[in-house]
Parts: sequence; C-alpha cells; structure tokens
Amino acid sequence: MTTQIFFFITLLVLTTFFTTTLASHDHDHDQDHHNPPLATVHITNILPQKNNPMKIRCNSNKKYFGYKTLACGEDYKWIAEERDLYFCEALWGRFMASWHAFQPKRDIGQQSVFWLVKQNGFFLSWDNSTWVKKSIWETE
Ligand SMILES: *[C@@H]1O[C@H](CO)[C@@H](O)[C@H](O)[C@H]1NC(C)=O
Repeated sequence: MTTQIFFFITLLVLTTFFTTTLASHDHDHDQDHHNPPLATVHITNILPQKNNPMKIRCNSNKKYFGYKTLACGEDYKWIAEERDLYFCEALWGRFMASWHAFQPKRDIGQQSVFWLVKQNGFFLSWDNSTWVKKSIWETE
C-alpha cells in the first residue's frame, strides 16, 4: 500500500515536471517565432594597400560596437536585427564618412548586406557581386 502511494506520488511529480518542462519549451519556441529576422552585414576594406588602416564604428539604437581598425583587405561583419537601423562612421587619414550600413526600409528581406570601402566611396550589394555607390569620403 505504502509502495503504491509512493509510486503514485513519484508519478505525479514526474508528470508535473515534464508538463512544466514541455510548456516552457513551447514558450521558448513561441518567443523564437516572434524574434525579428536577422541579416548579416559585411564591410570590406579594399582601400589601396599603401594607405593607413581605416577605423570604423557602428551602432544601432540598441547596440554599440565601438571602434574597430580595419586593415586593407580585412572585413568586418555582424548580425543585424532587421527592424533596427545600423549607422556607421569611418575615419581614414584626413577623411571621414558616415552611412547607414543597415537600413530596414532599404534592406529588409535581404539575408546579407555587403559593403565595399574604396577610395572613391562606399558601395552596397545584396549579392556580393552587383555594387551601387551609396556614400563618399569627406574632409572637414
Ligand atoms: C564576396 O566576394 C568576394 C570576392 O569574390 C569573396 O572573396 C568573399 O568571400 C565573398 N564574401 C562572402 C561573404 O561570400
């Protein structure tokens, strides 16, 4: 009799445990479903080899990445939340530039957003092969 009660209680505890675990798992799954889609932003420095490295700083209203130094040929990437705007500033010798590296209105639905940084400006591509100039270097 005692054994039966013990068994019953154990069963009850286990059932409660599994139900709770499954319920919280479902909850997580639901959360995932509501997370915004993500896009990868790539920024590649292809400035001439002989020049200074460039410094770059990007942020959204939620994320601040800090300054990074990008040597010639080097690239920098991060995962963007598609509903956030990501703004970047770059410094290169006496030049500076600022542009929207990820702009929801322009880039939503794209898996990747590629940028090439050249002497004559900043070029955007969604497929890493067709490029459109979007911004230029400026001096004070
Ligand atoms: C983009 O294209 C360049 C040149 O073909 C290649 O080296 C690079 O790996 C590509 N980047 C990605 C993320 O596919």
